[in-house]
Amino acid sequence: MDIITIRDLSKTFRVPKRKEGLTSAFRSLFFREYEIKHAVQNVSFTVKSGEIVGLLGPNGAGKSTIIKALTGILNPTSGEVRVLGFEPFSQRKQYVRYIGALFGQKSQLWWDIPPADSFSLSQHLYDIEPEEFERRKQELVTRLGIQDVIYRPARNLSLGERMKCEFVMALLHRPKLVFLDEPTIGLDVFAKQAIRDFIHYTNKEYGTTYILTTHDMDDIEHLAHRVIVINNGEKVFDDSLKALREIAGKTKHVRIVTQEKLPKLPKKGISELQTISDYEAQFVLNREILGIRELVGKIAQKTDIIDLTITDPPVEEVISQLYKQ
Ligand SMILES: Nc1ncnc2c1ncn2[C@@H]1O[C@H](COP(=O)(O)OP(=O)(O)OP(=O)(O)O)[C@@H](O)[C@H]1O
Ligand SMILES: [Mg+2]
Repeated sequence: MDIITIRDLSKTFRVPKRKEGLTSAFRSLFFREYEIKHAVQNVSFTVKSGEIVGLLGPNGAGKSTIIKALTGILNPTSGEVRVLGFEPFSQRKQYVRYIGALFGQKSQLWWDIPPADSFSLSQHLYDIEPEEFERRKQELVTRLGIQDVIYRPARNLSLGERMKCEFVMALLHRPKLVFLDEPTIGLDVFAKQAIRDFIHYTNKEYGTTYILTTHDMDDIEHLAHRVIVINNGEKVFDDSLKALREIAGKTKHVRIVTQEKLPKLPKKGISELQTISDYEAQFVLNREILGIRELVGKIAQKTDIIDLTITDPPVEEVISQLYKQ
């Protein structure tokens, strides 16, 4: 069953146009010139109950604008948005109790009080039975391992601790659908893992549907069933993770440090080679041509490998690969 339908969603902003220089600064006091910024253009998609959909795209692509239109914070310029039978912007009051939202860049917790107290406010706001509330709170807090953390004022928490508390806050009223705008931004690998596990758990256990934006290909790899790529306000890809992997998973970024002088690297399958020193290099590896194991084997025959980092290509590169196809 589709719980989200977006049809031809567009959002434009009127932004002041300003040229550099003092004269034009002065001029703009009297004559404001504006230009139209197309943040989102004719985007359409549907989401089924129980899906985890990743929204991917470079900075300024329009991801947050789409999330804002879906959560009812922004009024679309044109097009249709339907979520759980509501029109988010005009029916926001009734609508919000059925959804959860987390904006990684912006806190929903009350800054000066402990998260535990913020949670209680949520209990009253959503009219949750005290016993039920206690049960849910315990479950979420234990899952995220923040039993002690929730009694300290929010402003004193580390970023990872705060983000986990934000999750509890967003999920206490047990929404069917949760929007996450950069939920793992700035977190270390352990906090990221805890949050990913948590998303999986709630998706399996309660059938919670997730729409998330991220710059982290790793998040996408671990979480998303389906990926929508946004570029310049437009949808450029909408398919399974498997399909994206076939395009994006071909390349990896490799950095290698060796004990003795780095041997000559094979030409095939390696591009953008940068030799940092006699012992260190980084490059892009095409795994279809040269496998990681094969590469490591070749180097290890000549010298010991001290350090090896293999990372996913940045989102921008994935998108350029999409275009090449
Ligand atoms: N309120 C606003 N007024 C004017 N322009 C805006 C407004 N909100 C967003 N924009 C512009 O719309 C475009 C899309 O912004 P959006 O925040 O949706 O990008 P994003 O994909 O979330 O990027 P990021 O990855 O950096 O978070 C940007 O060029 C941004 O400057
Ligand atoms: Mg954003």
